[in-house]
Amino acid sequence: MPAIKLDQVSRAYGKQVYAVRDLTLEIPDGSFTTLLGPSGCGKTTTLRMIAGLDMPTKGTIRIGDKLAFSLEEGKSLAPAKRGLGLVFQSYALWPHLTVAKNISFGLEVQKVPRAEATRRIEQVATALQIDGLLGRYTSELSGGQQQRVAIARVLVMQPSVLLLDEPLSNLDATLRMDMRAELKRLHQETGATIIYVTHDQLEALTMSTHIALMQSGRLQQFAPPLEVYAHPANQFAADFLGNPRINLLEGSVERGHFKCAGLDLALPDTVSPADTPTATLGLRAEELRLHGASGPGLAEARVTTLLPTGSDWYYNVELAGKSLIVRQNDGPQLRLGETVHVEARPESIKLFAGDGRALLAAPTVPMGS
Ligand SMILES: Nc1ncnc2c1ncn2[C@@H]1O[C@H](COP(=O)(O)OP(=O)(O)OP(=O)(O)O)[C@@H](O)[C@H]1O
Ligand SMILES: [Mg+2]
Repeated sequence: MPAIKLDQVSRAYGKQVYAVRDLTLEIPDGSFTTLLGPSGCGKTTTLRMIAGLDMPTKGTIRIGDKLAFSLEEGKSLAPAKRGLGLVFQSYALWPHLTVAKNISFGLEVQKVPRAEATRRIEQVATALQIDGLLGRYTSELSGGQQQRVAIARVLVMQPSVLLLDEPLSNLDATLRMDMRAELKRLHQETGATIIYVTHDQLEALTMSTHIALMQSGRLQQFAPPLEVYAHPANQFAADFLGNPRINLLEGSVERGHFKCAGLDLALPDTVSPADTPTATLGLRAEELRLHGASGPGLAEARVTTLLPTGSDWYYNVELAGKSLIVRQNDGPQLRLGETVHVEARPESIKLFAGDGRALLAAPTVPMGS
């Protein structure tokens, strides 16, 4: 099964507008790689260029040992010759055919024997919870049902590389959870390479083996999900992943301490960043602890909001005029207006330079799938 390599790939519109810029990325064979980022960052454009539906204005794309696109060599392999299965944001089903016919169409073209085709159709239809709809016309389905038929139509072909552009966007919350688990199971069972586009960071964190995080057409970080979460390459990555959003405090670094109004935090010995007048500290809600009594290294704060979720308590606390969100899964049960003391686990601290670059070096993790 092929790895997919993009080398310095750009897609420009005119001279100024870049949908994707200098994208170099090696998508490992058998990985579940998610292209993640806000609307307009270039996710769909990247997927379309891999599929051969859009042409880069610069760079090279390889799929396994096939050269799929090269501007220098004037080569662009036709989409059908790239051996990919595609499900796009806008999917076209045949309205005058039943769900079963829509799904079986590709199998008939490939002359898959009838018994084998029936078995495969039933299997994907059950997995995608549309087995009760096989006899209906697709014009009689809801948007979410149509979306699942579009996925089934591609999965039934058992492609070795599957490109999915926001395939769960029309589904309600419960079904979306089911489908995430189903796609992840399918990935594990088939060993196919999946390239998945979403702007939903939770979807990316829960499903992927690798995340390619993009912003304004540029790759920000490419790493396994928990590494992006724990060791974001820059402030954008720290801010984009995680719910609630990471707490960010602006201040300075002086002699191994991060300082801002109300806070003087000794940075871990392993770090020792150079002094800088502008730095931003990143603290995730679950990496903060609240204490009743004061103590060394603790900053004083005031509880301004209590947000119980059933399993956890979220507190907004005000620290020298800044609001921080803190998650605790055990008490103490705090009251509004109460004074508390905030502790940040030193090993969890994230620190960013004025230009957003991470100042604490992330440990290197092998990038195999
Ligand atoms: N034909 C075009 N002409 C000019 N600009 C375009 C064209 N097509 C796309 N763009 C721009 O390229 C950028 C990337 O678009 P793309 O569709 O890849 O984003 P996306 O990350 O998939 O966003 P979304 O999450 O909204 O689907 C956008 O800023 C878009 O406006
Ligand atoms: Mg898109």
